[in-house]
Amino acid sequence: MKIGVAKEIKTDEYRVALTPAGALELTRRGHDVLIEAGAGVGSAFADAAYEGVGARIVSTDDVWSDSELLLKVKEPVEEEYPRLREGLVLFTYLHIAADEPLTRALTDSGVTAVAYETVETSDGGLPLLAPMSEIAGRLAAQAGAYFLEKPLGGRGLLLGGVPGVAPGRVVVIGGGIVGYNAAVIAIGLGANVMILERSIDRMRHLDEILSGRVSLVMSSSLQIRESIKDADVVIGAVLIPGARAPKLITSDMLHDMKDGSVFCDVAIDQGGCAETSKPTTHSEPVYEVEGVTHYCVANMPGAVPITATKALTNATLPYVEAIAEQGLRAAVAHDASLVLGVNVVDGKITYEAVADAHSLDYTPLEEVLPLAPA
Ligand SMILES: NC(=O)c1ccc[n+]([C@@H]2O[C@H](COP(=O)([O-])OP(=O)(O)OC[C@H]3O[C@@H](n4cnc5c(N)ncnc54)[C@H](O)[C@@H]3O)[C@@H](O)[C@H]2O)c1
Repeated sequence: MKIGVAKEIKTDEYRVALTPAGALELTRRGHDVLIEAGAGVGSAFADAAYEGVGARIVSTDDVWSDSELLLKVKEPVEEEYPRLREGLVLFTYLHIAADEPLTRALTDSGVTAVAYETVETSDGGLPLLAPMSEIAGRLAAQAGAYFLEKPLGGRGLLLGGVPGVAPGRVVVIGGGIVGYNAAVIAIGLGANVMILERSIDRMRHLDEILSGRVSLVMSSSLQIRESIKDADVVIGAVLIPGARAPKLITSDMLHDMKDGSVFCDVAIDQGGCAETSKPTTHSEPVYEVEGVTHYCVANMPGAVPITATKALTNATLPYVEAIAEQGLRAAVAHDASLVLGVNVVDGKITYEAVADAHSLDYTPLEEVLPLAPA
């Protein structure tokens, strides 16, 4: 199969959809891998690294027109819409439930669009979102420690303390993938860590894997109010699938927090879990409300493109290989998690939540892409 990798042109996006290691796996299987010139540079992969494993470096026009399967990281931006076409399978983060113009561009073009974020395993896991949550959680603990420093507006506290001086306190709200990874790094820095969760099963699991190195406490409005009073760093890491983040920290709760403490709201991409949260960028990551430094960067993994590119492609490569080897129809027929990834085929929306979000017609995938042999 001809597999293309487009260069990301969205502002501040430095990731690329395939590493040279991934390209080698594909060329070794006899696929023709086309890399847009400069696509890997933001992640420290020079064109020569791809050429060295048998890929071809091509122009923007050629990567879009010659590929059968096109790999990207972010959704196409407006200037890429005219490049979408029938016969092309696009595999990328799409998030089209929140983007009607893109949904229409995809359906009007006849492209087949498979979204990383809706690939879902039978236990409800989101294997192509998980690596970004791991990164965001780990970064949140680092950002918390960093913005506690006095010259940056923080309390002036070393999160891990030193022998003879107590460490800082970190409260993580939500013990999912982000929360677990934030806790791991905060523990590693030597902080005193508490996780507030509302799933008892999840807390049992965290208790096992963290071997008692954190306090695990049932989340409630009262508990959150009490816990954040003593915290030096609070990390917002909740998710209610398919919904906006609940506003668990109200404005009045901030009065009771320590001056110069840090609140990292990782859930900001779902609206944020504090009333005072608003999205920020890597160039201006923080602002202050009631003496509390708010860090609310909506695309945290963008700060570490080398790690994020490798983590993303580790997760996507098995799906890319399956589509390349078998074609999309057979790959989908063999792997139910990929069925949920397919959002648009032949101008029809095959992912129900997307159709509902825009009041458009939903077509079950089997009707446009019969999964069983006729
Ligand atoms: N800002 C970024 O760059 C970035 C990157 C990755 C993920 N995220 C976001 O981080 C958030 C967390 O993602 P995740 O992958 O860890 O999700 P997850 O589903 O793995 O974990 C969410 C956890 O929140 C818990 N929860 C729900 N309501 C709660 C409440 N009231 N109190 C305490 N816990 C509660 C759930 O039980 C679950 O364990 C999501 O909003 C996600 O979109 C942001």
